[in-house]
This record gives sequence, C-alpha cells and structure tokens, in this order.
Amino acid sequence: RPHILSGMQPTSDSLHLGNYLGAQVNWVTLQQNYTPYFCVVDLHALTVNPDPTQLRERTYATAAQYLAGGIDPERSAVFVQSHVREHAELAWVLNCITGFGEAGRMTQFKDKAGKRGQENTSVGLFTYPVLMAADILLYDAQAVPVGEDQRQHLELTRNLAQRFNSRFGESFVLPEPYIPEGTAKVMSLQDPTKKMSKSDEDPKASISMLDEPKVNLKKIKSAVTDLDNNVAFDPENKPGIANLLRIHSALSGESIDVLVERFAGENKYGALKGEVADVVTSVQGPFRERYLTYMDDRAELDRVLAQGAERAREVASATLARAYDAVGLVPAA
Ligand code: TYM
Repeated sequence: RPHILSGMQPTSDSLHLGNYLGAQVNWVTLQQNYTPYFCVVDLHALTVNPDPTQLRERTYATAAQYLAGGIDPERSAVFVQSHVREHAELAWVLNCITGFGEAGRMTQFKDKAGKRGQENTSVGLFTYPVLMAADILLYDAQAVPVGEDQRQHLELTRNLAQRFNSRFGESFVLPEPYIPEGTAKVMSLQDPTKKMSKSDEDPKASISMLDEPKVNLKKIKSAVTDLDNNVAFDPENKPGIANLLRIHSALSGESIDVLVERFAGENKYGALKGEVADVVTSVQGPFRERYLTYMDDRAELDRVLAQGAERAREVASATLARAYDAVGLVPAA
C-alpha cells in the first residue's frame, strides 16, 4: 500500500474547523487505502517559542484530537515528531541543498516574519519548510493531505526531492499534494476573505473543535455575510455565504446545489445559519466528548504514541540511512 504522511502543529489548545475539514477529514478517508503516518509536529512548534508547559500539554491534546477525529491508531502510525530523531537529521541534509533565496520566497515565512519583525524571527522559522520536507520524504509518502495554505511547502518538498535524486541518485519518492477543492480553505467567520486561522485574535472568527457546542452555535449565528439576503453560491461576491454552504456540504454530505435550492428565496440567511450550526455542532459536540475521554487516560495516549513512533522509526531510519549513504557520510562502524 502507498504511504501518506501529514501533521499538525501543537500551537493551540484546540483544532479549528479549518484543520478538521481541510486536513483531518481527508486523513480519515485515506487511512482506509494507504499506510498512513500522522505526526504531531512539536519541533515545528518550537519555531514560535512556545511556553514549555503549554507545548507539552498541547502535544498530548493534539494527539488526542487526532484520535477524536477518527484516526485509528491500529491502522495509522500516530506519533510525536521529536520521538523520531530522523526528522531533525534529514532536515539538516536537506538544509544543505536548499537555496537561501528559495527558502526566502515561502509566503508563510514572509507573512510570519513580517508580523514578528526581523529581531524576533528565528532561523528555525526560516528553515521550517525544510523540516516539513524531511517529515514527508522520510516516509516515502506519495500523497500529503493538507489544506491549500501548505501547497507551496509541498512544491518546495518536491523540488528538494528532485534535486537530491538527480544529484545523488534516486533516493526519495516525489509526493503529491492531496487538497480537495471544497474544503481546501475554510474561511474566517468574521472576515470571509481571510482563512480561518489559529492566530486570529478575534475568537468569533473560528470554530474551535473543543468548545462547548453552544459557543459555536452563537459564532455561526453571528457569522459575517452580506446585505443581499439571497442565498446563492458565489465565492467571489458572497464569500460569507459560500463559506457557510461549503461547511454545511462537507459535514452533511449534501451537495451545494441541493442546499442552494433548499434556501432559495428572500430572507433565508437565518435559516441557513441555523442548519449550519446544527450540522457543525452535531459533529463537533461528539468530537469534544471523545477528546475528553482520550485526555483522561494519559497512559493509553503514551502507549499509542510509543507504538506509532516505533512504526515510524522503521521506515524513517531506512530512508535516512539511504540518504546519508547517498551524500557520502561514512556509516558508523
Ligand atoms: P497547521 O498545524 O497550521 O494546520 C494543520 C492542517 O490544517 C490545514 N488548515 C486548513 N485547511 C483548510 N482551511 C483552513 N482555514 C485551514 N487552516 C489550516 C493546514 O493546511 C494543515 O493541513 N506546516 C503544517 C504542519 C506540517 C505538515 C508536515 C503537514 C509539518 N510537517 C508534513 C503535512 C506534512 C502546518 O503548519 O499545519
């Protein structure tokens, strides 16, 4: 079976609906027909200088949310990135074939560095996408299920793999992004021209998978739309409504056309929002309950993560050995 790999950063307490729909739902689907590796990318989280206690807690919380969302730890290797030291080691090798300018063109880096200012921007933030390339290439992943915001990082990963292969001989599989269109970019509820994001300061902008359902209900009811009050799917001119329709469709399985027809006519925004709130909370409420159960049993979480890391190391150590040999590093006697 072909391999897939993906990961999320433990940089917030809760996944948001964008993480869930943009990535996790596809992980769950793909785990049926692939050999999946899902890691909590704690080394990536270090790039934003998290508080150590919080990082530890959020690493567990993120793993518990993988399980709560339907990742089956028997089918999928669920692990913590830093438990498999090959990630950091391959990243170093890849750093040495990455151009300075090439890394500097990553738009996520430019955004984050722009916000933080040069003094607060670490070298780690700069080489972040190279570590991500290492994550992917270590597992010979053919597909990488992520949201639209990761597309450029995947292109870099492919470029690095190609460069390495042509310089040192076939060593890495070229990964394809897996980014289904409808949910590739879930938008903010308060500014539907911006993506839903962990770093948004406005708590009303995103749906937290771990909030009480009644909190999310309120947020959806106060989602920003437009003044036209006619439900239609028009992402360009009616981004708020398009976002709600996409969320509904992804969670309920009903097509957007069917939904548009159902809410046709004047003054149906309230009714649409009511239904979106229902479908969101009917998924998110049970997700939250399952999360709480997993978090209650740390010993079981530790067991799952240890088993996942062991499976991950099997593949990662072979790939790293191949890469070390290809570039001319002498094996330890
Ligand atoms: P992260 O932790 O920011 O986000 C996790 C996943 O959620 C997706 N996502 C979204 N999808 C749709 N709409 C949104 N509004 C939205 N916001 C976030 C992201 O695209 C991602 O799939 N660099 C990665 C983590 C990473 C990784 C990897 C991913 C590290 N190594 C290797 C894949 C493979 C990140 O920051 O994701």
